[in-house]
Amino acid sequence: MRRPLIAGNWKMYKGLEEALAFARAFAPKVAHVDARDILICPPFVAIHALAQVFAGTNVLLGGQNVHHEDQGAFTGEVSAPMLKSAGATHVIIGHSERRQLFGETDEGVNRKVHASLRSSLSPVVCVGETLSEREAGLTLEVVGKQIERGLHGLGQEGASSLAVAYEPVWAIGTGRTATPSIAQEVHAFIREVLSKILGPQAASRIRILYGGSVKPDNVDELMAEPDIDGVLVGGASLEPESFERIVKYRG
Ligand code: 13P
Repeated sequence: MRRPLIAGNWKMYKGLEEALAFARAFAPKVAHVDARDILICPPFVAIHALAQVFAGTNVLLGGQNVHHEDQGAFTGEVSAPMLKSAGATHVIIGHSERRQLFGETDEGVNRKVHASLRSSLSPVVCVGETLSEREAGLTLEVVGKQIERGLHGLGQEGASSLAVAYEPVWAIGTGRTATPSIAQEVHAFIREVLSKILGPQAASRIRILYGGSVKPDNVDELMAEPDIDGVLVGGASLEPESFERIVKYRG
């Protein structure tokens, strides 16, 4: 009943020409995929050009970050209305790289979630524990707090466009994927927390994506888990062929 969401996060890869070459090769490969949402989150500067190539196709675009104000003297920042006007429908918020390298906090994530919803951008809120937190047995506590604080004040309307991405930090870019059962355990817990704060109906509709070394050869088993409703893919979303295979997972 939850429509799968297969999302690519290009991080800081691909200039405009490379982005356009990807889009032209990729769009026809997935043109006949239905009942799955396909999302690509390129660097900001490529969104508008990609929106022209993907217009009329089943490929959606998102930002990788957003500022919490709609406009103002915030040099170097990009707002939700700007993303929207460039052609984005989604935005990734609170990616662990932003938390670790750019000092992003749960409170900041929360402000960005509200800013996105004000502009009708669907937030993809990222949570996940570090290796030392996992080894200390703190995974559920850490993830639970990130969800509660990051989604504070969210109403039913906000919940309807929200997706959550569970990305264990130790699995990102390391080739070390969480096993399907590890991921499923955390996803089921996230749904419980969502149910507590937003109600069971909303929680049952929110898509929870897994991210962290998702590849063509492990996507099928991940997507077979009942609470894994999609994936957020870094490295393997950079080549049209590998991302096509992930979009066309067999499940
Ligand atoms: P990798 O797929 O390269 O591990 O990256 C995951 C990620 O951070 C997606 O947001």
